[in-house]
Amino acid sequence: MSPLEISHWLNADVPPELLALVPVWRGLCFPGPQSAVVWAATDWHQWVFAAGEPVSTLRLLTRTVTFGGQPVTVGGIAGVMTPPAYQGRGYASASLRAATDFVRDRLGLPFAMLGCYPHMAPFYVRLGWTPLPGDAIFAQPGGLTGQRFTWNDVILILPLADQPWPEGDLLDFNGLPW
Ligand SMILES: CC(C)(COP(=O)(O)OP(=O)(O)OC[C@H]1O[C@@H](n2cnc3c(N)ncnc32)[C@H](O)[C@@H]1OP(=O)(O)O)[C@@H](O)C(=O)NCCC(=O)NCCS
Repeated sequence: MSPLEISHWLNADVPPELLALVPVWRGLCFPGPQSAVVWAATDWHQWVFAAGEPVSTLRLLTRTVTFGGQPVTVGGIAGVMTPPAYQGRGYASASLRAATDFVRDRLGLPFAMLGCYPHMAPFYVRLGWTPLPGDAIFAQPGGLTGQRFTWNDVILILPLADQPWPEGDLLDFNGLPW
C-alpha cells in the first residue's frame, strides 16, 4: 500500500474539490434508492490520500447520546466511503483507525459510535468495534421525534478510554441520527 496521508477539516474549510467529490462518491458507494431519514449535520471531514489522490473519506460529529438512561458523549462517525476503484486496499480500515485516534486525541472523547448495515458489522467488529444491544431511537423533523430507528441498522461503539459503557438496552440519539 502506498503511504497514506490523512487530513481533517472543519466542514466550512473543506477544499471545494473534495466537497465536489462527495455526491459523486455517494452515488458510487450507495447506489439505489436513498433512505428517507434526515441525517445529522456533521462537524468534520476526514480524507485519506494515497500518492496524493483522495481514496477514502468519512465525517465526524460530537453528540451526547443516552444509553440505559445515562448520558454519554461520543464521537460519531458517518459516511464511510471508499469508491469501488480503490476498495479492498485497507484504506477504510486505516481511515477508521485515524478517525478513532482523532476522536480520542483531538476531540477528547471516550467513545466512538457509528451505525451500519448488518452485513457490514463484521468489518467493524474486526477493527475492534462492539455492537450495542437493544434498540435505538432518534429524532426526525416533522413529527417523527421519538420513533424507533426502523431500518434494521446496527450501532457499534469503540471504547477509547478507561470508561465503562453504561448497562442498558436502549440508545437515544438525542437528535437526528448519523
Ligand atoms: C465499506 C467500505 C468503506 C470499505 O472500504 P475499503 O477501503 O475497501 O475497506 P478496507 O480495504 O479497509 O477493508 C475491506 C473490507 O471491507 C469489508 N467489506 C467491503 N464491502 C463489503 C460488503 N459489501 N459486505 C461485507 N463486507 C464488506 C470486507 O470485510 C473487506 O474485507 P476483504 O477485503 O478482506 O474482503 C467500502 O467498500 C465502501 O465504501 N462501500 C460502500 C459504502 C459503505 O457500505 N460504507 C459503509 C457504511 S456502514
